[in-house]
Amino acid sequence: MVKNIAVIRGDGIGPEIVGEAIRVLDRVAELYGHTFNYTDVDMGGCAIDKWGDPLPAEMLKKCVESDSVLLGAVGGDKWNNVPGNMRPEKGLLRLRAGMEVYSNNRPAKIWPQLAEASPLRKEIVDKGIDFIIVRELIGGIYFGEHRTDEVGGEQVATDVLKYSESEIERIARIGFETARKRRKKLCSVEKSNVLDSSRLWKKTVHRLAEEYPDVELSDMLVDNCAMQIVKNPAQFDVIVTENMFGDILSDEASMITGSIGMIPSSSLGATSCGLYEPIHGSAPDIAGQDKANPIGTILSAAMMLRYSFDMPKEADAIENAVSRYLDEGWRTADIMSEGKTLVGCRKCGELIISNIRKD
Ligand code: IPM
Ligand code: MG
Repeated sequence: MVKNIAVIRGDGIGPEIVGEAIRVLDRVAELYGHTFNYTDVDMGGCAIDKWGDPLPAEMLKKCVESDSVLLGAVGGDKWNNVPGNMRPEKGLLRLRAGMEVYSNNRPAKIWPQLAEASPLRKEIVDKGIDFIIVRELIGGIYFGEHRTDEVGGEQVATDVLKYSESEIERIARIGFETARKRRKKLCSVEKSNVLDSSRLWKKTVHRLAEEYPDVELSDMLVDNCAMQIVKNPAQFDVIVTENMFGDILSDEASMITGSIGMIPSSSLGATSCGLYEPIHGSAPDIAGQDKANPIGTILSAAMMLRYSFDMPKEADAIENAVSRYLDEGWRTADIMSEGKTLVGCRKCGELIISNIRKD
């Protein structure tokens, strides 16, 4: 198959980790007889520097016209003082909205080889950590009005959190359908004891539940969920939640699996053109030093093959290669532990490529 991939290397460690993911994709293409064409797209801080805009319109067009988008990371201290609507992160939000990818899927799964890297006690980890956070990605407070006014001699800032029934319904369906393909447990997370948007969320999710009688639905308040994720993560199969709660809970969930550097994500909407990115940031403190862990990005490329290109065998080949790499005892600094061998970003990519087999 021939696939056209838009590539956003971005800022900080972005170019390094994306470089390794592309080398992995090229190896898969070679083994399985595919052709992947790459189109570079500027987004984030580098686009601000080059074009004065974190996502120029023609860059978004390249993404929308591609078969899928692979993204490293954007942002950094250098752009901390630019106006809010010109920040590197705004480019990412405009990209998500422009591609209409409303459903963000973030797996929290512990690799057995990394169980000791989890900050949780062994008896909690041993019960298993394998759940998915389905995060609504293009609505809520991220996309409501943001403004700062002068009122009564002081500054007053406003951010609007708004959800329509249809926005809730389409993401809730993804939650139910994801659960249906797994252990059939869906936990809907909100703050319905305080927020109207959460009360509508809960009501809408329960209305839909009648269509999914095979899925066991539960509700959880977001503060309790934050606690339950560290107390008893084994209870979760699929969590469905709104944009900001999903942002926060997915960082927490990644940490209990050992390292945020290992976690990929997919974002999809109504078409197969998806956005694939690791969930970590641009880590400017280690940028350009060959220290970053490229696995989150490499596994995001595997998700792209699985969910957008319908290439499950090729995706398995990448995931198995990562597993073998871990079995062999190689570790980047973020997951290093005693008795293992420290490697850099480039070497990590190389070793994963050497473990890709056409099974
Ligand atoms: C994430 C990130 C982004 C978000 C930032 C960079 C805007 O934290 O993908 O989780 O908040 O969605
Ligand atoms: Mg985040």
